[in-house]
Amino acid sequence: MTVVRVAVVGATGYTGLELLRLAAGHPEIRVTVATSRREAGKTLSEYWGFSPLPYEVRITSPDPDHLAAEAEVAFLCVPHGTAQEMAAELLSRGIKVIDLSADFRIPDPEVYQRWYETPHRFPGLLSEAVYGLSEIHREEIRRARLVANPGCYPTAALLPLVPLVREGLVEPRDILIDAKSGVSGAGRKAEVSLSFCEVNEDFRAYRVAAHRHTPEMEAELTRAAGSEVRVLFTPHLTPMQRGIFATIYAYPRTGEGEIHEALRDFYAESPFVEVLPPGRVPRVAEVRGTNLCRIGLRLDHRTGRLVLLSVIDNLVKGASGQALQNLNLVQGWPEDLGLPRAPVFP
Ligand SMILES: NC(=O)c1ccc[n+]([C@@H]2O[C@H](COP(=O)([O-])OP(=O)(O)OC[C@H]3O[C@@H](n4cnc5c(N)ncnc54)[C@H](OP(=O)(O)O)[C@@H]3O)[C@@H](O)[C@H]2O)c1
Repeated sequence: MTVVRVAVVGATGYTGLELLRLAAGHPEIRVTVATSRREAGKTLSEYWGFSPLPYEVRITSPDPDHLAAEAEVAFLCVPHGTAQEMAAELLSRGIKVIDLSADFRIPDPEVYQRWYETPHRFPGLLSEAVYGLSEIHREEIRRARLVANPGCYPTAALLPLVPLVREGLVEPRDILIDAKSGVSGAGRKAEVSLSFCEVNEDFRAYRVAAHRHTPEMEAELTRAAGSEVRVLFTPHLTPMQRGIFATIYAYPRTGEGEIHEALRDFYAESPFVEVLPPGRVPRVAEVRGTNLCRIGLRLDHRTGRLVLLSVIDNLVKGASGQALQNLNLVQGWPEDLGLPRAPVFP
């Protein structure tokens, strides 16, 4: 194996920092570029106040020529809208791109425009991008030069749902996704509604029936079902720093044992997805700091509903960990290379 030089675009945000932390434990990559428009000139340790890497990197402004000269792969840890421009510039210079934003996740440019309220400027690249839900699209990711890393809520919801929808083991209608996220899911930006006194001791739903992860989940479930799927998704903000807990309700077409077996078999060769015995409830504390998704399930015989429970760390499996897992696939390395499995617990 040869060491691959990587750029972290947006190294002063939460997903950028998480990528640096994970890169520090990865034996085959070296971060050669870390960007921020506002903090250019400082070193990473001057900005963060600690050293995320065992070597020093000076922050630079995001410049495609500089990135192309210094790196072979770029992780885009920047807001949607910004990422598509940067991805196009880098791809034209022969750099592979793993984009953590939403810019390449929705295959239909009209759907993107409706939900993101701006036209997609690179529809040609949209059709080329591979949706980076690692366990579901391994083979396509291995051949990709542009990976659209999934959103955090979609990762938590789709890992239990896609195999069941694909195999016809649940009804592809009336799927309810009720999910809760820690505050780091909103990024590092300052916002009154995300400040300590507003979030601590509070619990709230937001963007009810209007969250932008809805079309992303629907696109992937539609692909799995082979026919159009609609989901009702309600996100909530919880006073945690990290973590997503998704509770999903669906009508099963078979029994609890068969559903458990199908999920367990589907993920038998997947190092980061753990399917728990029926009735065992996963906790976000069990996945904090790891690239794991843990899935529980229970059939409620009274209502005939299947309840799926899925937990991830939004910054790891929901963002930077999955991005690194995708790089491992792109490079032909072991899928779990350099990725943590043991939680930071308690
Ligand atoms: N937080 C999560 O749990 C999570 C999970 C999955 C996916 N994501 C996605 O990952 C991306 C990054 O999220 P985050 O939470 O890390 O955000 P964040 O904490 O707000 O950080 C954003 C980073 O992007 C840079 N940036 C902002 N605007 C830019 C621009 N116009 N051009 C170049 N760089 C720019 C910022 O530095 P400067 O402003 O100094 O340039 C900063 O380093 C977003 O698209 C987000 O939706 C986040």
